[in-house]
Formats: sequence, C-alpha cells, structure tokens
Amino acid sequence: MTFPKKLTIAIDGPAASGKSTTARLLAKKLGYVYIDTGAMYRAITLAVLQSGADPSHKEESEKIAAKSLIELKIINGTQQTFLDGIDVSSQIRSPQIDKAVSEIATNAAIRKLMVRQQQRLAENGGIVMDGRDIGTVVLPTADLKIFMNASIEARALRRLKDQSGQGLSLEEIKKDIERRDHIDSTRKDGPLKKAADARELDNSSLSIDEQVEIIFKWAKEVAQI
Ligand code: CDP
Repeated sequence: MTFPKKLTIAIDGPAASGKSTTARLLAKKLGYVYIDTGAMYRAITLAVLQSGADPSHKEESEKIAAKSLIELKIINGTQQTFLDGIDVSSQIRSPQIDKAVSEIATNAAIRKLMVRQQQRLAENGGIVMDGRDIGTVVLPTADLKIFMNASIEARALRRLKDQSGQGLSLEEIKKDIERRDHIDSTRKDGPLKKAADARELDNSSLSIDEQVEIIFKWAKEVAQI
C-alpha cells in the first residue's frame, strides 16, 4: 500500500535503540523512503580512516568529507551506502567505525555538509529519517517526531545478537554504547536530544512489530486518516 499522505517522519534516539530497524519497516509499510543518517556519518568516518588521517584532526577530516561522495541507494528494497561509488554498507558497521564515528560527528563543518544533504533528500516528503538531530536540526518542521529509547541492557543485548561475528562481549558493547551516547549528547552541534514536540517511545519491552504498529497509528493520527 502507499500511505495517502506524504508525511515527513523524524526518528531520533541513542545508539542501538532500534531506530534503524523500526524506521526501515515503517517506511516499507507506508511506501516511503527510509534515510539512515547514521550511515552517512559512518561512511565519512571510513573515508577519514582509509586516508590514514586522525578523526580528531578537524580540518583534515573536513577536507576529506568535502571531497567524498556519499550516496544512499535503494537496492532490492534495502538502503545501501556508497562511498565514492563503492558499496561500503557492511564495512561501515565494524567496531573500528563504531569507535571513531562519534568523534567525526562532533565536527561542526562535517555536520553542516551532512545536514544540507539530508534536508535535500527529505525535500519532497514521504520519508522516514533516523538519527540524533533529525527532529531538532535537520527537519524541525517534521510532521511526526519520535524519540526512541530503551534500557542500556536491552540495547546492548540487541547489538550482541546482531553483531556478525565481531566477537565483542556484552560488557564491551555496553561500554561502547555508553561512550557514544555520552559524546553524542554532550556535543555542541546537533546533540542527541529529544525535540520539545517529539513523542517518546520506550521500547525496552516491545517487539519490533509492536513499535512499528504504534508509530503507524501515530502517522495515521497526524495525517488525519
Ligand atoms: O545504529 P547506531 O545507533 O549504533 O548508530 P547510527 O545511527 O549508525 O549512528 C552512528 C553515529 O553517527 C552516532 O553515534 C552519532 O555519533 C552519529 N550520528 C549523528 O551524529 N547524527 C545523526 N543524525 C546520525 C548519526
């Protein structure tokens, strides 16, 4: 089915809170495009690491970001991330990227480049976009804003389950999530923050289907159908 109205839906929340899975399924149900903004920061991080630069070196990282081409393409119904024409969808999920991405995401110049690109992608509506600053900075006038959260235990357990042979322990995953959340919520530019008009959804004890159903109902409510 295609949802009769082309809404703009923003989903924010901390690391591993289930945003991506929920946003992807919701977009499918609505016949919308799903945009995973985290993948864009991850791809820039990969570009910086590949060039041998230090992610904490702001100017150098910005230069690399400015000349990197990031494309999000839908292939067989799933978003794939391309860096300079190469599919890097699995590479950007490695622990090395997890470790460095939040540093890259504190870079104001890089955020500016990403936000502009994200706003362009959302121009025509009919999208579900997830990230940290979508409801606050990227799409402040989104039709529906959701702030997803879950306990640290639930989030770490989910990551443990879907890590593909990376061999991290539950404790290591927990530490990485907490470290990223701390950097993400204390940075000056576009911090992880609930927008004043966002609806909060704690999914610690919800299944994916239940989460999608709740947001789908909210979308119908907003669209008045
Ligand atoms: O999937 P997970 O929750 O682990 O993270 P992600 O959504 O892929 O985002 C990876 C990192 O990118 C985050 O920890 C943030 O540092 C950064 N990010 C951001 O700063 N702003 C966004 N809109 C999206 C991601």
